Amino acid sequence: MKKKVSVPIKTFWYSDKIVWPKTVTIVTTVNEEGIPNAAPLSGVMHYDNLDKQPRVMLMMRKFAHTIQNICKTGEFVVNFPPYEYTDDILEACRFYPKGVNELDFMRMTPIPSQKVAPPTLAESRQVLECKLDKFYDLDESQRHAIGNIVNILVDEDLVDMSRPELAKAVDPTITLGDAGRRFFHWTRVGDIMVDEVQAPPKEEDARYTVRMNLEWESEALETLEDVPMFVRSMIVEMAEQIVEGEGGTVVTNKRFKKMQDDYTPPSMMDRIDTSD
Ligand SMILES: Cc1cc2nc3c(=O)[nH]c(=O)nc-3n(C[C@H](O)[C@H](O)[C@H](O)COP(=O)(O)O)c2cc1C
Repeated sequence: MKKKVSVPIKTFWYSDKIVWPKTVTIVTTVNEEGIPNAAPLSGVMHYDNLDKQPRVMLMMRKFAHTIQNICKTGEFVVNFPPYEYTDDILEACRFYPKGVNELDFMRMTPIPSQKVAPPTLAESRQVLECKLDKFYDLDESQRHAIGNIVNILVDEDLVDMSRPELAKAVDPTITLGDAGRRFFHWTRVGDIMVDEVQAPPKEEDARYTVRMNLEWESEALETLEDVPMFVRSMIVEMAEQIVEGEGGTVVTNKRFKKMQDDYTPPSMMDRIDTSD
């Protein structure tokens, strides 16, 4: 085992002494006059996984034109430039004066979006159209914006692909960080390994692994029967924590069903492959 040594924590620490690969997006916006703007962003994260209010979070320098446009006009589009467009990423990254449309200098093609004003980039094989939900300042220089996803678009030919085929077809650009903000390091999807989680334990064994600390109404136990075995102990733990947090001692069927609506809607459970 190697000895670990402490390294100095500097600004941009995540791209300095450590490797933290991230997908690069190009976020398009328009300013108040309707002039488009494009900027590369790797600080983009899915923020709310459920389908009730699907959201993304952008992490940006507060004075970037992109975040200023978003806060003024309330709309943005997240594009995923394929690996062959790393030159476009760097073009969009340049510090152009306010009101300059970076897209005029890029190879990627702006086309109208469906539900928002900022353009979509045609070569991006998947696109998120978003409307601002809220934003907050982390400090003097950094701002986070949370956007509601109002439309997810993918190229027609991607719809029925398997995950490995999809990953190769979208061919996202992955940043490995930069050296001195001059030399940017990229990579793309290469080897794809697929692992299967352990088969769900058999009913008889699993009964012992689901530990209950609170009393459960018999109807709630029946509802629990529909929860796939391999997530059941996690769901029980969550349910009991919520009930205890509310000062309760019994998990009622009514409360449990409401939790299912809130945290594990049918659309989430449908994703889970329980086939043999
Ligand atoms: C690969 C890559 C990732 C970037 N990610 C971010 C980011 O997450 N947040 C940010 O504020 N700037 C990021 N930048 C820098 C912005 O793109 C840059 O400041 C740009 O000039 C902003 O343009 P704008 O003023 O038109 O919005 C990134 C740049 C590159 C090349």
